[in-house]
Amino acid sequence: MTEPAIIRVALPPEGTDRAYDITIGTGQIAQAGALAAARLGTRSCVVVTDSTVGAYYLKPLEASLRAAGHRLLEPVVIPPGEASKNFVQLEKILDALLARRIDRKTLLFALGGGVVGDIAGLAAALALRGIPFVQVPTTLLAQVDSAVGGKTAVDHRIGKNLIGAFYQPQMVVIDTETLKTLPARELRAGYAEVVKYGLINDAAFFGWCEKNGGKLLAGDSEAQVYAIKASCAAKAAVVAADEKEAGQRALLNLGHTFGHALEAATGFDATLLHGEAVALGCVLAFRLSADLGYCKSDVTARIAAHFAAQGLPIHPPKIQADAAQLVKLMEQDKKAEGGRLTLVLARGIGEAFVARDVDPAAVRNVWAGVLS
Ligand code: NAD
Ligand code: GLY
Repeated sequence: MTEPAIIRVALPPEGTDRAYDITIGTGQIAQAGALAAARLGTRSCVVVTDSTVGAYYLKPLEASLRAAGHRLLEPVVIPPGEASKNFVQLEKILDALLARRIDRKTLLFALGGGVVGDIAGLAAALALRGIPFVQVPTTLLAQVDSAVGGKTAVDHRIGKNLIGAFYQPQMVVIDTETLKTLPARELRAGYAEVVKYGLINDAAFFGWCEKNGGKLLAGDSEAQVYAIKASCAAKAAVVAADEKEAGQRALLNLGHTFGHALEAATGFDATLLHGEAVALGCVLAFRLSADLGYCKSDVTARIAAHFAAQGLPIHPPKIQADAAQLVKLMEQDKKAEGGRLTLVLARGIGEAFVARDVDPAAVRNVWAGVLS
């Protein structure tokens, strides 16, 4: 175990206990019990995980909780994958929590990727009108994005993440060693969210990604820790400044409105992982920015080249939907206002901005240009 890095999510108002730490390092699952005890005292604890992650990390996490003096309730295990992020599984988690006779001090641990973090976080927000929870993210995507910032949700048949709540964790414990068991495709998908931070407002970090992305994806621990720290610091700053997405937090959605439309069009199946859809979405957002005259088209080519070099998709898969249907899906995205398209566009790498009322015809043209 190396000395962990700690990044504070400095949520206002100052002087309250809403601010929390993200602890990042190797061997941190073994420290999770002690970290929770230091912040909250010893508690009754329940771990929510999926069956894949549970097989690797449930026992180590529970051992760490037990060793720190917490009392363990029976864990709740859901099937892995996006298909679990729905009302049915949410109800099952809530049923299980109530059956275990949780009280308002019971501490829930969300152990897994973004799916577990999002649904277990929502269950924590709803159970007994809110019980405290800790994020223990085990995918790169969750470590650099979804575990930080308090967005919790399940999907609805009309669209992704449409039912949810802002509900902040008490802390985030990132054990970078969990990435060793993560399938390569999942690691690549999470990497798209790392690159996103550079594209939004940090051109130098995008340059770092171009230089070091290959190393990171090959399992270089130093590169992984560096990217996770940089990403969490970027996200923590945005969340502290704009927790409920009244302004700048919307920039974090770069690539997401295009991406969500693709995910919806493919029925949220394994055709496209969320991070893969975000990579494609970023390319399309820059392409639209170029079409609208905001940035040069060679910028889009540079971004696409980087994603492609790392094995991320830069062309949409074969889908049933046509350009007009994809625009409709984008108009249903929760970021749309009054059915008008709100998108994150860019003037260059590191120069993203929120564009309201984007002309649907221009968006349709982008889709028409890339659908096969
Ligand atoms: P995921 O949670 O489905 O995990 C991917 C797969 O990897 C699953 O099969 C899981 O069982 C497996 N897995 C996880 N950790 C593992 C490990 N260490 N070793 C081996 N296997 C492991 O997917 P994800 O990409 O982590 O998250 C995607 C979800 O995150 C989407 O639903 C997306 O909407 C959500 N998300 C939320 C936010 C937010 O701010 N709340 C931000 C971005 C994405
Ligand atoms: N993933 C975008 C956000 O947390 O705001």
